Amino acid sequence: MATRHFLTLLDLTPEELAYLIRRAISIKIGLKTHGPTYTPFTNRTLAMIFEKSSTRTRVSFETAMAQFGGHALFLSPRDTQLGRGEPIEDTARVLSEMVDAVMIRTFSHTGLETFAKASTVPVINALTDDYHPCQLLADVMTWTECRGSVKGKTAVWIGDGNNMCHSWINAARQFDFQLRVCCPEGYDPDPAILQAAGDRVTLLRDPQEAVADAHLITTDVWASMGQEEEQAERERAFAGFQVTEAMLDKAADEVLFLHCLPAHRGEEISETLLDDPRAVVWQEAGNRLHAQKALLEFLLLGRVE
Ligand code: CP
Ligand code: NVA
Repeated sequence: MATRHFLTLLDLTPEELAYLIRRAISIKIGLKTHGPTYTPFTNRTLAMIFEKSSTRTRVSFETAMAQFGGHALFLSPRDTQLGRGEPIEDTARVLSEMVDAVMIRTFSHTGLETFAKASTVPVINALTDDYHPCQLLADVMTWTECRGSVKGKTAVWIGDGNNMCHSWINAARQFDFQLRVCCPEGYDPDPAILQAAGDRVTLLRDPQEAVADAHLITTDVWASMGQEEEQAERERAFAGFQVTEAMLDKAADEVLFLHCLPAHRGEEISETLLDDPRAVVWQEAGNRLHAQKALLEFLLLGRVE
């Protein structure tokens, strides 16, 4: 059987993704009920290559492997041969000889694809400049846990048309919900990604109009990792795009607020938004653990339910 990778949400079918969400919720309940007694990965290893910083992604993958009875190896370009110019294809071949799966957080999505082509073990995208699909597994899981099926609902993305926005667009396609993307001009998502989503996704300019009657509102930092020098210019461009409690009041009564975190209070969100009961970001962050366990299990062992 060909090796399955998870580079974007489009690598899995809608049916497989729906299974992953159900399985993640079931794994979470199992952990809360019985503790970390389910250990399907005895002696299995995951290599984790981090070319950008991380708190949630590293801790959730490392904890997932430990609780499943396996082990995760943290690899940074600073102290591996990757940082000294060893070709990524060679690294992929070498790691494939030793580990059971590889997780990569990097800049170039094309670089990730090159790595995956050369790898004979599953490769997981843990964030590139273009996508962050693992975050969307946790986000859809959280939305489902709180409100049931997301099919036909309306989510709103406010802010930068960045890697998270692209993954929300793919999620709208795969999980069959409507997405309103609201960005200032000049910060739109990739038009090809937008276009491929057809009429499930609409592009708007006015955040107040975008949030009307929405079931979910989400945003992200204005300057992503690698864009630090654009911070001041972006703060000017995104004025008026801060998500506030008043915006949530314009949405549906059942509205939830999600943020992949880290958040910048006083920039993309108001100082107090994360204290609002409609914000479920801590549950969302915790769900990274369960969603990634379901993903790792699926890629290594196939369906178990
Ligand atoms: N949301 C997310 O991926 O967080 P980290 O950058 O801390 O991993
Ligand atoms: N868009 C952000 C997401 C961080 C999890 C970034 O790429 O820095």
